Amino acid sequence: MNLVETIENRTSVRDFSDKKVSIEDLREIVRLGSMAPSVNNYQPWKFVIITRQEMLTDMSNAVSKKVMQLPELHIEGAKNIKSQVEWFSTFFEKAPAVIAVCLNDYVSVLEQGTQLSHEEINKQRNYPDIQSAGACIQNMLLAAVNLNLGACWMSAPMIASDEIASKIWLTANDKLIAMVAIGYPKNKIAPRAKKDIKDLIVEIL
Ligand SMILES: Cc1cc2nc3c(=O)[nH]c(=O)nc-3n(C[C@H](O)[C@H](O)[C@H](O)COP(=O)(O)O)c2cc1C
Repeated sequence: MNLVETIENRTSVRDFSDKKVSIEDLREIVRLGSMAPSVNNYQPWKFVIITRQEMLTDMSNAVSKKVMQLPELHIEGAKNIKSQVEWFSTFFEKAPAVIAVCLNDYVSVLEQGTQLSHEEINKQRNYPDIQSAGACIQNMLLAAVNLNLGACWMSAPMIASDEIASKIWLTANDKLIAMVAIGYPKNKIAPRAKKDIKDLIVEIL
């Protein structure tokens, strides 16, 4: 698959076959994720590969509990919305593998020479730490497609990020920011329709 095909074939996969994903493939996905650009090349990330079923169930239960505790609007359908969100937050339990992506602290150049705090610089620059993690995760999704795997980027489980972090033994320096569910797709899914690019471009030539 060339790069264009890989990009065009990527789509979020949430339903996986029972086939296991090899640890070699999972390590390769992480390796390619870590080749992404990052702010000042700090590579402020760490990855936890989880295939242990009891652990995934435990994590999923923690997420489910948090979603179900959210206060509902008193309108028709509110329960239904919560159930849907719960599903989109917890389906990783049935994935053969999950990669948790964490951000580490780093000291940026500017904070060494100005009175600005790390948080102020981060905000001023539109969160380059999170932007770096996004590039890394996209690399991982494309790497998965290239290995004939399917994957889904997941931020919804972060509602229980503290609970998950403690279950997977993260230290205080590893801030969990997203997870990627990975497996062989159960069914072939056509990539989802995207907006017409003509409506999205402004050209200043
Ligand atoms: C930052 C981010 C967070 C996401 N979080 C979730 C999630 O928690 N659960 C989920 O099912 N999908 C999640 N997705 C996947 C999106 O729903 C999906 O990318 C979108 O619907 C477009 O579909 P496609 O990926 O097949 O093109 C997330 C995607 C991104 C980029």
